[in-house]
Amino acid sequence: MSTEKKLKAAVIGAGMIPTRSHIPAYQRLSNVQVVAVCDVKLDRAQAAAKAAGVPNAYADYKEMLAKEKPDLVSVCTPNMFHAEMTIAALESGANVICEKPMALKYKDAQAMVATAKKVGKQLTIAFSNRPRADMQLLRRYAEQGLFGDIYYVNAQYLRRSGIPGYGSWFTNKDMAGGGSMLDIGVHYLDLALWIMGHPKPVSVAASSYAKFGPRAMGLGGWGADILPPPQRCDVDDMVVTRVMFENGATLLVQASWAAYLKSGERIQVLGTEMGADCYPVLNGTDHPVRIYDDMNGEAVEIIPDLPRVAVSGHAAIIEEWVKNLDKPEAPIPAWQGAMTAQIIEAAYKSAETGEMIKL
Ligand SMILES: NC(=O)c1ccc[n+]([C@@H]2O[C@H](COP(=O)([O-])OP(=O)(O)OC[C@H]3O[C@@H](n4cnc5c(N)ncnc54)[C@H](O)[C@@H]3O)[C@@H](O)[C@H]2O)c1
Repeated sequence: MSTEKKLKAAVIGAGMIPTRSHIPAYQRLSNVQVVAVCDVKLDRAQAAAKAAGVPNAYADYKEMLAKEKPDLVSVCTPNMFHAEMTIAALESGANVICEKPMALKYKDAQAMVATAKKVGKQLTIAFSNRPRADMQLLRRYAEQGLFGDIYYVNAQYLRRSGIPGYGSWFTNKDMAGGGSMLDIGVHYLDLALWIMGHPKPVSVAASSYAKFGPRAMGLGGWGADILPPPQRCDVDDMVVTRVMFENGATLLVQASWAAYLKSGERIQVLGTEMGADCYPVLNGTDHPVRIYDDMNGEAVEIIPDLPRVAVSGHAAIIEEWVKNLDKPEAPIPAWQGAMTAQIIEAAYKSAETGEMIKL
């Protein structure tokens, strides 16, 4: 039997995602023990703890941090609490994985990054789409220079009918910070920036719409709390954002929680030497990627075979993070989350003012 001391993990927020994702992701790892779950609704924390065989449940996260002194903390609460809880957990001596979106405001994301640096702990953001085989392939091709210079990326995360937690914090602007762009657009913004190699963004222009939520249409089934209409819903349900970069590249991100279109996720990458289109809806989930290239002067379309990924996105990122805790930077470093916060804040400001925002 191993005598290795186990890392103690604790999860704040026992909604749908934390209990389904973070706890089992830690429990796969032989050097980690989940010691506590916290939820402001104690019965929810207790139920999650009981279901997963976790010994302790708390209603107050500060009490949990003080009593359990965890080495690893997952912040899985409504968006408005991410910054405050992450900073408190880092200051208590833990490494932290914070759910997306990292923070409502760029200055909060910067404070989170600065705190991690100050206390010498790792902070990572749960961009759980990065381990997908299709995204790994695009990133690898980009890193290897196969695209040449990437000058345009089109990234879409579109739902026909998927407004989460209607009437809950998800549709409350003060608690969520925003709707479709902050909730799901952030995943594709992150994927695009990562594939592009995080060039420096210089300006953002965006339009935002709320055509369905206020009419209690286009509702989905996510979130621990959902209330019947009429309820508060003052967030966007579609945002279109254009980001320009110092290197001349352009990124278009479209996010919708609800719209009259086919649900689907897509990313197109155009480079000077090659292009790619990852579009499971059109291409099928078995072979979602098409590569566009030239061979002997003729245009060719290549369909890569992708390896099967055996574990969930959360399991994969948590495993990689825990493996690399001794490194100066997490595999998904928090500054990359902060860049998404900077761009999204500018997108909402642009949508509100009708102006292009210079960063
Ligand atoms: N990475 C992903 O793919 C992914 C997927 C879904 C959700 N998320 C993110 O995870 C976070 C939580 O989402 P969810 O779907 O689990 O929401 P949810 O509404 O299902 O659960 C949130 C939980 O937090 C609890 N909570 C609220 N305030 C609290 C406080 N002060 N202290 C402790 N607990 C508190 C609530 O009682 C609730 O149980 C959000 O930021 C969301 O964007 C990420």
